[in-house]
Amino acid sequence: MNSSRVVTIITFVGIACNVAYFAVRGFAVQAHAGQVAAAEGGSGGAKKSAAELEKEKAMQHPYPNDFGPEELDVSGYPKNHQEGYKMLKARCAQCHSSARPLNSRFVEPDVAKDKKQAAVADLKKSQPELFKDPSIWQVEANIWERYVKRMMAKPGCKIDKKEGKAIWEFLVYDGKRKIGANAGKWKAHREKLINELKSKKPERYKELHEQKDL
Ligand code: HEC
Repeated sequence: MNSSRVVTIITFVGIACNVAYFAVRGFAVQAHAGQVAAAEGGSGGAKKSAAELEKEKAMQHPYPNDFGPEELDVSGYPKNHQEGYKMLKARCAQCHSSARPLNSRFVEPDVAKDKKQAAVADLKKSQPELFKDPSIWQVEANIWERYVKRMMAKPGCKIDKKEGKAIWEFLVYDGKRKIGANAGKWKAHREKLINELKSKKPERYKELHEQKDL
């Protein structure tokens, strides 16, 4: 085989490879197109779905909550709240771990909607320590309702209204674990989580501290 034929063959193989490469690449781009992020205005060649971007955001900003357990023994909870818990485990672990809601400082009084405000006022009198350190307890009349709705509004979140309601009601009921006779134990738990964030992610701890979030 003379050298010019070798060159011709090599050139051919080279062209064939390029054609194959662009065909495969084109296909991959097309396959992706369905889920290309609208979040970045769909421009700039973004290949991540809005849901993936939201998950990245959630992971890049850890909370002390994330260092706590991802599970809870709810065998003693009423049946409907056991269902709400199951729903939380399935739905609220899409972007961050279920530890984030399960170890949250948020407390919403477990009474009828129109009595929540009064219940917060009562707690202020009967358990003033719950209002002294918002990194341990954040007690508000509608805080879980607000947060579940906020999560549901995030791009890529697949929680429907009925599921959201069950999760919200579970989280409200679960507040019992943080107040009353359980307050001391809860405080120690939260302090441990905050210390863990402080030693493992000092930058994030500083950030939350500066935002007066811890
Ligand atoms: C689509 C992604 C996504 C889903 C699904 C999601 N979250 Fe989040 N979550 C986030 C992001 C991002 C943050 C960071 C703070 C923010 O953006 O609000 C966050 C933060 C939180 C926090 C920390 C707030 C704080 O200040 O302590 C809690 C609690 C929380 N989520 C609860 C939930 C619950 C309950 C559900 C299920 C109903 C849920 N999340 C589902 C994305 C998600």
